[in-house]
Amino acid sequence: MSQPQYSPGLEGVVAGETAISSLDGGLSYRGYSIEDLAHHASFEEVAHLLLHGDLPTAGELDDFRRRLGSQEVVPPPILETLRRIPVKVPMMDVMRTGASLLAHWDNEVADNAHDANVRKAERLLVQLPILMAARHRLVQGKEPVSADPRRSFAENLLWMLLRNQPTPQMTRAMDVSLILYAEHEFNASTFTARVIASTLSDLHSSICGAIGALKGPLHGGANERVLAILQSIGTTDKAEAWVMDALAKKQRIMGFGHRVYKDGDPRAAYVKPMCSELAAQTGNTPMEELADKVQEVVWREKKLPPNVDWPTARLYHYFGLAVELYTPLFVVARTAGWSAHVIEQLDQNRLIRPAANYTGPGKREWKAVGDRGA
Ligand code: SDX
Repeated sequence: MSQPQYSPGLEGVVAGETAISSLDGGLSYRGYSIEDLAHHASFEEVAHLLLHGDLPTAGELDDFRRRLGSQEVVPPPILETLRRIPVKVPMMDVMRTGASLLAHWDNEVADNAHDANVRKAERLLVQLPILMAARHRLVQGKEPVSADPRRSFAENLLWMLLRNQPTPQMTRAMDVSLILYAEHEFNASTFTARVIASTLSDLHSSICGAIGALKGPLHGGANERVLAILQSIGTTDKAEAWVMDALAKKQRIMGFGHRVYKDGDPRAAYVKPMCSELAAQTGNTPMEELADKVQEVVWREKKLPPNVDWPTARLYHYFGLAVELYTPLFVVARTAGWSAHVIEQLDQNRLIRPAANYTGPGKREWKAVGDRGA
């Protein structure tokens, strides 16, 4: 078999097959365009589509919601552990630990059968946000707020985090954000999950690895850094100088560029109008104008379009959410996509083990330590 060409960062390399999503001609999940799903679906319907292969019927959606609602619990010893983790530990590290802790209390952790993995995925889908919200309140010296099974997924998320009734518009914006973050083909964290699954490890281990990969600023960690950029620039009149200085220093401007989307991330285009609307309602129009100016200069200088993180960070800020929650919210949504990929990998598995080009020294003769010089 001819040796496939090497490409740094595996850019452009087809590393497997998937029926879950496609980026060709725009982003779609199992054949449904992301625009249709963001416009019409709830996150629950999209999670069902990703995990079960189809949009649910009304009865299936009720059953799915009921199953999720009945599992909205995190074992008390885990909540107790969340109290003991030092306050300075970043939320993304707590999410990684939390996924690992949840494995210890999941009776099906070692069962890699398709249906068992779907059940575990549904549990993680509701347990991880509970764990995130509980930790977020504990570090503020407040008690966790229980999930309310009568609320939708997005509404529950905001309720547990903010302890006040989110407006229907905020709930819908969160729903859309979760849908847009839910799945994205062979991105770094998803591929990490598939590699771990391909050794016949277990779903929780795959999710732990994926969380570790998503944390990086070149991937999911970018959304937290987007807000830091906007807050450090401060006002629109300083945007041009800041961008020119960053580019002159060869710095990566978080929220811009993408390995696959070179003409623009369709998710960013979808979130932007939501940002403008919410900014106007929350007195944040100056930040929107600042962001637009940064985007204009980056495009003029580097022809780099914004990716999903550039508007999403602002949207979460306008919700009043703490910046340390931004990448964990990405985890909550992407747990649906990661799990779907793990299940797909195991349904037709082959160990993922690529080759490498060797670039080290040629053959060398052994020398005892005394003969290796001073
Ligand atoms: C996500 O893959 C996915 O699907 C991921 C994701 C998903 O849903 O799972 O879409 C989510 O991770 C979105 C991306 C979030 N990351 C960031 O916003 C971090 C900033 N962006 C970059 O670091 C970068 O754009 C990457 C990592 C996203 C993609 O980088 P590539 O494909 O490896 O491109 P590259 O590093 O080879 O850069 C090509 C050129 C370089 O210029 P030259 O050195 O050739 O002159 O573009 C420049 C880069 O310097 N460049 C940037 C830049 N991104 C690329 N310059 C400044 N700021 C940037 N953000």
